Amino acid sequence: MTRLEVDLVVKKAVFPVAGLGTRFLPATKASPKEMLAVVDKPLIQYAVEEAYAAGIREMIFVTGRNKRSIEDHFDTAYELEAELAATGKDELMALVHSIKPDDMDCVYVRQPRALGLGHAILCAERLVQGEAFAVLLADDLMIGTPPIMRQMTELFAARQCSILAVQEVPEDQTNRYGIVKGEPMSPDLVNIKGLIEKPHPSAAPSNLAVAGRYILTPAVFDLIRTQPRGAGGEIQLTDGIAALLASEQVLAYRYHGQRYDCGSKLGLMQASVVLGETHPELGREFSAWLKNRQESASLPAF
Ligand code: UTP
Repeated sequence: MTRLEVDLVVKKAVFPVAGLGTRFLPATKASPKEMLAVVDKPLIQYAVEEAYAAGIREMIFVTGRNKRSIEDHFDTAYELEAELAATGKDELMALVHSIKPDDMDCVYVRQPRALGLGHAILCAERLVQGEAFAVLLADDLMIGTPPIMRQMTELFAARQCSILAVQEVPEDQTNRYGIVKGEPMSPDLVNIKGLIEKPHPSAAPSNLAVAGRYILTPAVFDLIRTQPRGAGGEIQLTDGIAALLASEQVLAYRYHGQRYDCGSKLGLMQASVVLGETHPELGREFSAWLKNRQESASLPAF
């Protein structure tokens, strides 16, 4: 591979999975939020598959206590695989094996305390080794064709700068997101001039909100490190990216697809309904049940 090609390709993805997931208690008391399933697949697997579809092969997980099951999920399960092989369950065997393709590497680093998303990203600095890298927040389940991160890596190849996935949100919800201020460059692209974490609607410069997909240049690490604690007393990724604007171009990209906020109960339930209805095995039956249920509120549960 030539030097130029190396520069154009995003090879590493960081998955910060060390948050406490308090909005999902009691489910997250002893197990990670990222292992909550939508239909039959944990959130973290959707995110890893999205990165893999974008050509990324090195997956870096920033983990914490109670996150062991994420490592196990992407590891070999000898007993299970031996049992499936012995009973001739080849399809299930292939399914289990496909969770971690042979050309994909998984590496893990611990965030000792949940000090914020920016701090979690800093924990991956040594593993990123000075390259541009992707960040995927698994609790934002993103569905698109091509997959959202693929859309972003293609844009990175053309633009060679940090890119944030954004979407318009209702104006009274700006206090839940990082909000972008910028100049439109095209229908899909905004040249970012400022970023504010969770502004009150009256102080928000726009309703363009950052979703959980980023491609960042390594200059962001030093800037995260030197920011004072931000909103909620946490070390915020948004503040580090805002500081990056002084020295580098950062683009906001209106992705093509849907986002489900599976860090919230409502979002997880919405994603379950949408992906349930299109699921190859049970989609038809589930849709019919939903339709009947709407028509007759007195139907019993399955
Ligand atoms: P959230 O803001 O959703 O926080 O983090 P959380 O702790 O996971 O969940 P709640 O709000 O208590 O319910 C967004 C992403 O950043 C990661 C989380 O794991 C999640 O993927 N994160 C957050 C970390 O890895 N470390 C942190 O210190 C904070």
